[in-house]
Amino acid sequence: MTTLLNGKELSEELKQKMKIEVDELKEKGLTPHLTVILVGDNPASKSYVRGKEKACAVTGISSNLIELPDDTTEEELLSIIEEQNNDDSVHGILVQLPLPDQMDEQKIIHAISPAKDVDGFHPINVGKMMTGEDTFIPCTPYGILTMLQSKDISLEGKHAVIIGRSNIVGKPIGLLLLQENATVTYTHSRTKNLQEITKQADILIVAMGRAHAINADYIKKDAVVIDVGINRKDDGKLTGDVDFESAKEKASFITPVPRGVGPMTITMLLKNTIKAAKGLNHVER
Ligand code: GUN
Repeated sequence: MTTLLNGKELSEELKQKMKIEVDELKEKGLTPHLTVILVGDNPASKSYVRGKEKACAVTGISSNLIELPDDTTEEELLSIIEEQNNDDSVHGILVQLPLPDQMDEQKIIHAISPAKDVDGFHPINVGKMMTGEDTFIPCTPYGILTMLQSKDISLEGKHAVIIGRSNIVGKPIGLLLLQENATVTYTHSRTKNLQEITKQADILIVAMGRAHAINADYIKKDAVVIDVGINRKDDGKLTGDVDFESAKEKASFITPVPRGVGPMTITMLLKNTIKAAKGLNHVER
């Protein structure tokens, strides 16, 4: 029998708990604040950013959105980030990716204070995660891990196969699963015999960005299947990288799209913002 990993439901529970924590912090005079920076008018990015603002409001976290035109220069963006770094009322800074072509994404990420880097993308925070130190964990991998833990899915000694090697999802989720004592295999667009490898997975993380690329033929019986894909169909509806209807016949646990990993990503951003406000990531600004 397949159990649905309902990220929407879990994220609602977590947000309720966070609201209580935020209320307590506010009583002590500390209001967690997140600044979101959006450059250009990519419709998907706009929609994600709206979701982030809404989730902040629900939990009582204050947020502001800085919207910049598509032709903003790298220098202009760097100076805005500097202002936010120096503003003590701002605890978290998120620059929505991808950025327009004239910007060097890595240079922008470097400019965000590691203490305010609620995405966990700054090299200092990436390094800390790699060595198992306490830091901001990137939101999507953090959300996936939280979902697995919420169902007491054991990771120790399990073979986790990751499809996709992005800095945002693939690479960090592999590291986190390794820290939980899983045996991790990374696969990607150049991997040969993908199906042979995925069929060995006890835990299969799919983050390839191609609608319904993975069906039951790629899945071992009773595997845990996590679908990170968010693809828009012709009818405007969202769908994952996994062919849910066929995959659910084989999987023991599976995430749907929508209402799977997506809501958890936003929820973990809130958690990181609260952590930043409490000053728990002890790094130089
Ligand atoms: N674009 C897609 N996912 C993310 C994310 O987690 N953080 C940021 N900043 N941009 C993204």
